[in-house]
Amino acid sequence: MLHWEKKLILGVPEIDREHEELVKKANDMLMALKSGNSTDEIIKHMNFLADYVIKHFSSEEKLQAQYQYPEITEHKKIHSDFKVNVTKLLEDINKNGLSTSKKIEISQMTMDWLLKHIGVEDKKLADFILEKRNNT
Ligand SMILES: [Fe+2]
Repeated sequence: MLHWEKKLILGVPEIDREHEELVKKANDMLMALKSGNSTDEIIKHMNFLADYVIKHFSSEEKLQAQYQYPEITEHKKIHSDFKVNVTKLLEDINKNGLSTSKKIEISQMTMDWLLKHIGVEDKKLADFILEKRNNT
């Protein structure tokens, strides 16, 4: 499970609000994976989470454009790679089902991804936005 904790708060309220929601939806999915829900149910949660992630990406991209973030191209690439990987993962599940080891792998991947997304990629973006806000 992921905890919404201080170190995940980046100081840009628009981003933080969505990240908190993201952690909630990720936890719902992790719960579904852990508690032996049906594959259909798990896929529903995955789609739910993926839809929210995509919505969140578009808010971030808007902010990046608004603040003329210099790494916008790299950040957008990370976003589009994510979409490709999720599509592949869903195809894989449709084809091969969900084994216990696959479930563990997905849980681990989700947590790693989220912590990296917030702690590394968005941290850079948030620091940039804060710097600009402080100077205007
Ligand atoms: Fe984010």
